[in-house]
Amino acid sequence: MPSRDGPAAVEVVDLVKRYPRSETNAVDGISFTVAPGETFGLFGPNGAGKSTTIGILTTRLRATGGRALVGGVDVGRDPVTARAQLAVVPQHNNLDRALTPRQNLVYHAAYHGVPRAEAEKRATELLDRFGLSDRADRRIEAYSGGMAQRLMIARAWMHEPAVLFLDEPTNALDPQTRLLIWSRVREMRDRGVSIVLTTHAMNDAANLVDRVGIVDQGRLLTLDTPQNLVRGLAGQAILDLTVTPAPRDDADAVLDALRELDGVRKAERRPLPAGAPGRAGWRPGAGLAGALGGAGGALGGGGGALGGGARAAALAALAARARANGDASTATLPAPGGRGGRIRVRLHLATDPAALLGPALALLTTRSAALNDIHIGEPSLEDVFIELTGRDPR
Ligand SMILES: Nc1ncnc2c1ncn2[C@@H]1O[C@H](COP(=O)(O)OP(=O)(O)OP(=O)(O)O)[C@@H](O)[C@H]1O
Ligand SMILES: [Mg+2]
Repeated sequence: MPSRDGPAAVEVVDLVKRYPRSETNAVDGISFTVAPGETFGLFGPNGAGKSTTIGILTTRLRATGGRALVGGVDVGRDPVTARAQLAVVPQHNNLDRALTPRQNLVYHAAYHGVPRAEAEKRATELLDRFGLSDRADRRIEAYSGGMAQRLMIARAWMHEPAVLFLDEPTNALDPQTRLLIWSRVREMRDRGVSIVLTTHAMNDAANLVDRVGIVDQGRLLTLDTPQNLVRGLAGQAILDLTVTPAPRDDADAVLDALRELDGVRKAERRPLPAGAPGRAGWRPGAGLAGALGGAGGALGGGGGALGGGARAAALAALAARARANGDASTATLPAPGGRGGRIRVRLHLATDPAALLGPALALLTTRSAALNDIHIGEPSLEDVFIELTGRDPR
């Protein structure tokens, strides 16, 4: 993103960090800039160097090489001035356990020169906004992980920093707390605070961040808006098919045949979704369970007896309708049977999924394969991430 007015909120140039006694660089020549008011996501697998980068930018760690500036201030040369304009919510709890939650907030503000009365007022407001008022004066040991996380974000806001660093702010939190935290982060963004955040909940963050840098093994692999990353790497739309090949057919041959269809950019095997219904799909000539279900486009069970062509047309129409109603829809064709032999195939499409359903179903019909489930979706940031960084755990 081109610079908005003033110095960059964050500027990182050829940043290198090698920990003592390590044979490799944890951060290995990373460069990026965050504009004032921008929300920037730093994503990467475990051990990629995200926390190390944030540690340098927030003056906890010293760089081995390169430059890191916050608000135009070199964090290595002038850490005190840099600290005045930034706040950090670290990956691991660093609250002061000798103090109460309220004292953690007030003392933090005092460190940053906020007058006592103002600090008390802000603490009361923030404890309320983060749902912690009734536990503000208890011992901090009584706090759960989610409460501690909320308190650390409240603390970061106490001196109203220009640049906020959030390292895995929603890690290990329940859905309610995650929603609360994302909504508070959005408020900070709307107030013009520049934000750098790391998270593995990329799809949650996709709507929040202006741009994303993906790092792996200390290097920046790509940097762009979420929209451009998704558009550029993963294709226009995704069609997931759960298929049971005919008994004498080969799963890879079915995959290859689907890959050859017009409009398919890429085809890959995916794990079967956990808890997928243990039902074999419809096979041509098997007598069809044809009732169209309700919301979300499920094809429910029933005693319909459509012919194969009519079935395919009904399914295509249903999927198109379901797609028009929302981003991700599922059509399921139930029939008796087990999970044996079924595969999940993801097709990355350069065309509208509705246009591909007919040919895909015709192909499966020709091969006497059963279709168990259809899911139409948009590619996500997580798809981009996996494409860039692979599937192997670190
Ligand atoms: N204090 C340390 N001493 C030595 N090596 C370290 C230290 N801290 C981190 N590392 C190493 O530096 C690399 C980057 O670690 P870092 O914590 O920055 O990764 P990360 O991207 O934040 O990962 P995660 O998603 O697991 O939090 C890893 O190989 C890690 O083992
Ligand atoms: Mg980390």
